Amino acid sequence: MNLIEVRDYTEMSQKAAEYIIEKVRRIPNIKLGLATGGTPIGTYQNLIEDHQKNKTSYQNVLTFNLDEYVGLSGDNQNSYRYFMNDKLFNHIDIDKNNTFIPCGNVEDIEAECQRYEELIHHHGGVDLQVLGIGSNGHIGFNEPGTSFTSKTHVVNLTASTIEANARFFNSKEEVPTKAITMGISSIMKSKEILLLISGEKKREAMQKLLHAEVTESFPASILRNHPSVTIIADQAALAKS
Ligand code: PGA
Repeated sequence: MNLIEVRDYTEMSQKAAEYIIEKVRRIPNIKLGLATGGTPIGTYQNLIEDHQKNKTSYQNVLTFNLDEYVGLSGDNQNSYRYFMNDKLFNHIDIDKNNTFIPCGNVEDIEAECQRYEELIHHHGGVDLQVLGIGSNGHIGFNEPGTSFTSKTHVVNLTASTIEANARFFNSKEEVPTKAITMGISSIMKSKEILLLISGEKKREAMQKLLHAEVTESFPASILRNHPSVTIIADQAALAKS
């Protein structure tokens, strides 16, 4: 794993955006795996600013998001579809038909998981997957204990994840208890991974990622077995501030 150390969240967001922009300019039909949560918001803002200033085009880019809450429709402000439209897609020249996110409010959730996995495969897989990490080591919504062989599947969110995500909702009770997520094996199939880690709250996760054994009880540890991972981490996460 290649570790890039940066000062703070601002610098992490700039570096991550530069990394993505360079790829998009070189491979205009790149397939990007995208993430939600607090971590990538600054990166997306930088992509938008660059698009406006330098006209980097996303017309031929395809995107696949990691996950979506079960039970929320795309126009619900807390859905990840809404998040992605609001934080990125509405502000760049991407064709929304080329932006894929699991559908959280379908009747047959299992069929939706299978459809999504096949969809990624059908398009030839993700070239560059942007990832955050949960303080419990989750990637996507793959909580500790998830099988490393898992494909896109339904998960019960852990109490700590519900707690962490409650900040986006009016109350903890409103946070859905289930989600659809790309599995660990789906994520590992991505040709390249860009992992963003910022803040003191991620310190323990950062240490475990770098030093703990590869174990399903800390899902992100599997990334040590991926041939092409770049981590951009700030000083607070690296316990250097
Ligand atoms: P965060 O979440 O970016 O909101 O910290 C990261 C994650 O849970 O993967």
